[in-house]
Amino acid sequence: MLTAITRKLKELTRMLGTRPYYGFVTGHGYLTEAQVTEVRRVLESPTQAAETVAEYERRFAAVVGEGRGLATAGGRMALFATLRALGVGAGHEVIVPAFTCSVVASAVLRTGATPVFTNVDPATFGTDPDAVAKAITPKTRAIIAQHSFGIPCRVGELRALADGCGAALIEDCALTVSSTRDGVAVGNTGDAAFFSTDHSKPMNTVVGGFFYTRDAGLYDAVAAQLNNAPTLPEAQQRRLFGQFLLERRLARPACYGLYQLIMLGKSVLRRLSDPGMTFLDDDYVVERTGAYAYPARLPAMLARIGLFELDRWPAEAARREALLQRYLTAAYGTPLAAHLPAAYADPALRIVAHRLAFTHPGADQLKTLMDARVHTAWTWFMDPVVGARAGLASLGYAAGACPVSERVGTQVLNWPCVVEQGAEGPLLEFFAQVARQA
Ligand SMILES: Cc1ncc(COP(=O)(O)O)c(C=O)c1O
Repeated sequence: MLTAITRKLKELTRMLGTRPYYGFVTGHGYLTEAQVTEVRRVLESPTQAAETVAEYERRFAAVVGEGRGLATAGGRMALFATLRALGVGAGHEVIVPAFTCSVVASAVLRTGATPVFTNVDPATFGTDPDAVAKAITPKTRAIIAQHSFGIPCRVGELRALADGCGAALIEDCALTVSSTRDGVAVGNTGDAAFFSTDHSKPMNTVVGGFFYTRDAGLYDAVAAQLNNAPTLPEAQQRRLFGQFLLERRLARPACYGLYQLIMLGKSVLRRLSDPGMTFLDDDYVVERTGAYAYPARLPAMLARIGLFELDRWPAEAARREALLQRYLTAAYGTPLAAHLPAAYADPALRIVAHRLAFTHPGADQLKTLMDARVHTAWTWFMDPVVGARAGLASLGYAAGACPVSERVGTQVLNWPCVVEQGAEGPLLEFFAQVARQA
C-alpha cells in the first residue's frame, strides 16, 4: 500500500513538472465554446434527444460500412445485447481473446454463457485463429474477433472457423475504427461488431458504445432489446458533462499532470463521500450496485459530442495513419525495429492507429525511460483480462491458461496515436531517443 502511494506521488510529481506529458486520453480541446454550449443545451433540454441519437447512429454506421447500428452507453452493453439477440446463454461458450478488458468477459457472463479464453496473436495483438481453432467445442456459440490498437486481426480465417462450427462471429472494434484488411473495413466481416467510444478509445464520447450489423434480422432483434432500454441516470449524465469539460481543458500534453492530479482528487473524494459514479465502474466488480441500467442507451448529450467526433473523423483517421508511419520511420535503423509486430509491414492492411504497440524483452527498462514523458501505467494489456477487481479467477480465467497472452502482457509497450494536433513533434523526438536505446 505504502509503495503504491509513493509510486503514485512520484508519478504525479514527474507529470506536473514535465511539459508536454503524454497520456492515452485526449479531451475535446478542438471544440469551440459555441459547440460546448450546444452539448450543454442537449443536456439541459433533451427535447430532440431521439433525433440526435438517431442521427449519430446513422452517421456512425455510415463510417463503418453499409449496415446499421445502435448506440449504447458502453461497448460491453452492445456485446451483451448482441449475444442475447443471438440466443447465447447458459450452457453455451463464447471464445474471447485473453488480451482484453474484464467488462468483455463480464458481458458474456451476464448472459449466462461461459467465456473461453484464447492466446493473443503476437503479430497483430488481436484474436489468433490458430488458438481459436483449438478452443472450439460443440458448445461454442460465438467467437469474438478483436482488432487491437488499430490493427485488423486475421478476421477472414475467423469467419471460416465460425462458419465451420455454426457459431456467430462478433468483431470487437473497441480499439479500431476504419482500418482495413484486404480492402474490407473492420466490422464488416462478422455477423455483428461492437465499438467503444469511451474517453480512451479512437472516438471519444467520454463513455459510449455502438452495435453494428449488416444483417437486418439481427439488427431488429438487437433493436427490440435496446429500444426499450433506459439511458444513463440524469445525475450521472451531469457528472459525465463535468468530466467532458475537465478533459477538454486539461487532458492535453500541456497540462496532463494537473488532469491526473484532479482525477486522483476525484477518486479520493469518491471514497470519502460517494458522490455517485461517472464512468461505468459497476462492471468491474462482482457485487454490483445497479447504479445504471444494463444495457443502457447512449445519452443524447454524448451523442451530440459524438457527432462532433464524426465530423472530424476522416481528417483525424488520416492523421493517425500518418502518425503511425512517422513512428515507424523513426524506428527503422534503430534496435527497436526488430521488435515491431509483423502487422506493421503487412501490405494487406491499412492501419488507422490507435496506439503504436510492440513487445520488447527489456520492456521494464524501456518503461522507466518512457515514464519521463508518457503515462505508461495505462499500457494495454498487461494482464490477459484487465481491470477485474475481484481477480482474474472471478471471470473464469485460470492463471497460466494463456501463456502467450501472459508473456506478451509482460513485454508490451504502447505509444499514443490519439494526440492533440500540433503536439506530435516532441513525442516523436522523444520516441526516436528511446528507440535508439531499445
Ligand atoms: C478490447 C476492448 N473491448 C471492449 C471494451 C469495452 O468497451 P466499453 O468500456 O465501452 O464497454 C474495451 C474497454 O476498454 C476494450 O479494451
